[in-house]
Amino acid sequence: MKKLVLLIVAPLIFCWTIVSVNSECNLPTNLIKEIQSYEEIATNIINSLTTGKYKGGTYNELAKFVDTFGARVSGTENLENAIDYALALMKQYGLENVHGEEALVPHWVRNEERGEILEPRKANLPVLGLGSSVGTLANGIEAEVVVVKTFDQLKGLNTTIKGKIVVFNEDWITYGTSVAYRSHGASEAARFGAEAVLIRSVTPFSMSTLHTGWQDYEEGVVKIPTACISKEDAQLFQRYQDRGQKIVVRLHLNYTRFEDSKSRNSVGEIQGSTYPDKVVLVSGHIDSWDVGVGAMDDGGGAFISWYALAVLHGLGLRPRRTLRAVLWTAEEPGLVGWAAYNASHYNELDNFTFVMESDEGTFSPLGINYAAGVEGGCIIQEIVKLLAPINATQAVPSTNGVGSDISAWTSSLLPGASLLNENQRYFWFHHSAADTMDVLDPDNLDKSTAVWAVVSYIIADLTDDFPRNRDQPRVKVVN
Ligand SMILES: *[C@@H]1O[C@H](CO)[C@@H](O)[C@H](O)[C@H]1NC(C)=O
Ligand SMILES: *[C@@H]1O[C@H](CO)[C@@H](O)[C@H](O)[C@H]1NC(C)=O
Ligand SMILES: *[C@@H]1O[C@H](CO)[C@@H](O)[C@H](O)[C@H]1NC(C)=O
Ligand SMILES: *[C@@H]1O[C@H](CO)[C@@H](O)[C@H](O)[C@H]1NC(C)=O
Ligand SMILES: *[C@@H]1O[C@H](CO)[C@@H](O)[C@H](O)[C@H]1NC(C)=O
Ligand SMILES: [Zn+2]
Repeated sequence: MKKLVLLIVAPLIFCWTIVSVNSECNLPTNLIKEIQSYEEIATNIINSLTTGKYKGGTYNELAKFVDTFGARVSGTENLENAIDYALALMKQYGLENVHGEEALVPHWVRNEERGEILEPRKANLPVLGLGSSVGTLANGIEAEVVVVKTFDQLKGLNTTIKGKIVVFNEDWITYGTSVAYRSHGASEAARFGAEAVLIRSVTPFSMSTLHTGWQDYEEGVVKIPTACISKEDAQLFQRYQDRGQKIVVRLHLNYTRFEDSKSRNSVGEIQGSTYPDKVVLVSGHIDSWDVGVGAMDDGGGAFISWYALAVLHGLGLRPRRTLRAVLWTAEEPGLVGWAAYNASHYNELDNFTFVMESDEGTFSPLGINYAAGVEGGCIIQEIVKLLAPINATQAVPSTNGVGSDISAWTSSLLPGASLLNENQRYFWFHHSAADTMDVLDPDNLDKSTAVWAVVSYIIADLTDDFPRNRDQPRVKVVN
């Protein structure tokens, strides 16, 4: 997940308003009855995943996938091999119309990186370059360090920045807020003549973990190398500086940005029985960072998406509308696979009934986070009642859209949803070497797949189209 503005905090803000939202729903009785009529189907789906034939399946397939391919970096042959494998899996499990759709994606690789503190005490400095960073010259950079906590502090220092290595020791506030330093820190510091930038890893918790991520150079500003350091080292630099100690660091960073290359969004379907042209889309992204193996971000989201369709197919369930699983490519370098898909399917969006993406973890699921207008919200609230057997009955509105790739669609154009789950620890692992299968739990993946399958199936099968109206969800703040 790259751009996750507010998505993580939204549940915390809104969860106590649900009751009031609920009580204000005024759905037609026949629609409520129709949704309730799916109870047996929902229970069958849930049971098949929690005790039946599909128990453990999401985890096992994901583990095999992740153990086989490891990290799946945009632009690499390994990612393309992983995509071939995912397409074959979808076919093997009976999905229809399985195919890849081309997208041109960035290709950035780290060759070599070393950091060293020279003053006031010689020490190794672990560094992890940010995506799209340029490297240093062959003999590296040796310079004095200036630590700032905010962009305002940087501006205040102005001319004293020239020739220095700027360390951003930003506080963790939320991902959406703090990530600005990772995304724009290099160009902001380059304006004042900095030689290089080091960013405190964007995470609420650290055991000396480094958390990379894409960064964007601003056009017309000189491109300087940028990498992240641990929270611990950023705080060390802060203490040195606060005591007036001179800090000198040596960096040797070598990265290559290759030409963009061809990748694919992976698509598989259950075609609709009555309205095959109408689409309910479920998704996650298949690419990952190069550190860790992208089991959490976003192996989990990608695998609950296609596996939900595999389970529905296995249970003989074919909804009226087409259910489409999409495994986005190149989300990490800036939603690039989605952008290609949006461009080539934009004129079909009228027939996209509902869009879903899971890219904020597949920990213990709580329900659904939605961006769907008033009536749509009421429908979701009615649907998630059927998830009572797994306690995933919360329906939490988001005013800013949901999902990462699909966020531009769901912020204004299309109704959609993401997986509400107990993801308080998500950013402990995000974009770090710690994003491995150990983060995931088989039972939680079963339940997450169940939420995904039940919600997408019912929306794809209801007699009437899900309401298109994307007015603000009705959120009544109690107190
Ligand atoms: C960076 O690494 C590449 C690949 O190892 C090497 O060919 C190149 O010379 C290095 N560049 C610099 C500036 O050290
Ligand atoms: C920084 O200082 C220069 C030279 O004194 C001045 O021209 C510039 O406006 C200052 N920049 C900011 C952002 O304050
Ligand atoms: C989606 O595609 C349409 C059509 O090409 C384009 O106008 C729109 O800007 C795209 N949306 C985004 C957020 O890129
Ligand atoms: C939507 O699907 C209908 C058939 O159900 C088709 O006639 C129509 O062309 C589609 N609209 C768009 C915009 O693709
Ligand atoms: C649901 O919650 C109840 C009450 O907290 C608990 O007893 C039950 O085990 C939970 N069920 C599942 C499937 O987690
Ligand atoms: Zn992600």
